[in-house]
Amino acid sequence: MAIVVTGGAGYIGSHTCIELLNEGYEVIVVDDLRNSKAEALHRIGEVTGRPFQFYRTDVLNEDALEAVFAGHAVEAVIHFAGMKAVGESVLLPLSYYRNNVAGTMALCQVMQRHGVFKLVFSSSATVYGVPGQVPISEGAPLSAINPYGRTKLMAEEILRDLAVSDPRWSIANLRYFNPVGAHKSGRLGEDPSGIPNNLVPYMTQVAVGKLRQLQVFGGDYPTPDGTGIRDYIHVLDLAAGHVKALERVKRFQGAESYNLGTGRGYSVLEMIAAFGRVSGVELPYIITDRRPGDVAVCYADCSKAAAELGWTAERGLEEMLEDTWRWQAQNPDGYRADRIPSILYG
Ligand code: NAD
Ligand code: WQD
Repeated sequence: MAIVVTGGAGYIGSHTCIELLNEGYEVIVVDDLRNSKAEALHRIGEVTGRPFQFYRTDVLNEDALEAVFAGHAVEAVIHFAGMKAVGESVLLPLSYYRNNVAGTMALCQVMQRHGVFKLVFSSSATVYGVPGQVPISEGAPLSAINPYGRTKLMAEEILRDLAVSDPRWSIANLRYFNPVGAHKSGRLGEDPSGIPNNLVPYMTQVAVGKLRQLQVFGGDYPTPDGTGIRDYIHVLDLAAGHVKALERVKRFQGAESYNLGTGRGYSVLEMIAAFGRVSGVELPYIITDRRPGDVAVCYADCSKAAAELGWTAERGLEEMLEDTWRWQAQNPDGYRADRIPSILYG
């Protein structure tokens, strides 16, 4: 039985494919490569030494998805495919609703037609909006403060409705906190197109000289050093969390949400200091105004994932930054050298 991984060529998807292949799963990647490179797929094959299938397909293309499900005995789906840039979502709301909400609906429709009812969905801590208290547990009020956040919240709500409508559905909404880090081999990592929006890719691009200096967004938050605090989680821990969630959806019915974080928050200045220790590079930075829409403090209560998935993040901050730095230093231009995709990798 195979696992369909939509968005499997992307940052979190590619690391999860490695984990799945190493655990002996049969993997089918569905990705239209709109925000990723075929080179990432070659490298999954390279580091695992295992073959897998790849379909270059938009999840909104139901005919093409039908063909994927018709051609394989699919047991479950992990749905990463989606667009994730908060600022872009403000400018292109229709693209975001179409891709993230209608795309999830199209996928579920095809799954239903093929009798596949097990789904692990990429949600986000963004569904907590401005958290009322930290650590944030899954029962905290949900709200969204930008179109991207609303797409994740709507998709979660649609999935909850689906689970109520038909008891055959088993759905795990995984709410990621701040994914960082890269594969130990230095061969896979985050490869943002254009100027990175997120802190860690921005820091590493300053460190390799691609960007001049880091702007620290806000030095007057009500935190010990005045800068924003987040729960950074290693992408390899996140990948392992997906395998645990997959095992879980085989055993329960309904829709459940799980926070995937470490439960520990670090400020921007702590991140800069830790990066300096790991890389030996002293990052040039200036403290600027707050970024609109940012919250002061956000970190997870991960006890539900520990109790029900048997999953806890194992890797600490220095390891996250060491692995990110290895990836960035060895691949200053990301997956630049693209190779022609074929159907079967490995
Ligand atoms: P990514 O952009 O690296 O990966 C997404 C992949 O999906 C890309 O390979 C892209 O080409 C593909 N894709 C997008 N739309 C598609 C479509 N319609 N059809 C087929 N393929 C499509 O992003 P990521 O960081 O790996 O994130 C994966 C998922 O996790 C996304 O849904 C994102 O919203 C969610 N998430 C990410 C973060 C984060 O900070 N990285 C945090 C919380 C949630
Ligand atoms: C982290 C901290 C910034 C960049 C975003 C999305 C969220 C989720 C993860 C998908 C904050 C500060 C950042 C910079 C800075 N994505 N910062 N200078 O904002 O917590 O979450 O990515 O679901 O939805 O909103 O992550 O990495 O952008 O910021 O000072 O150049 O770093 O203010 O305190 P964020 P981030």
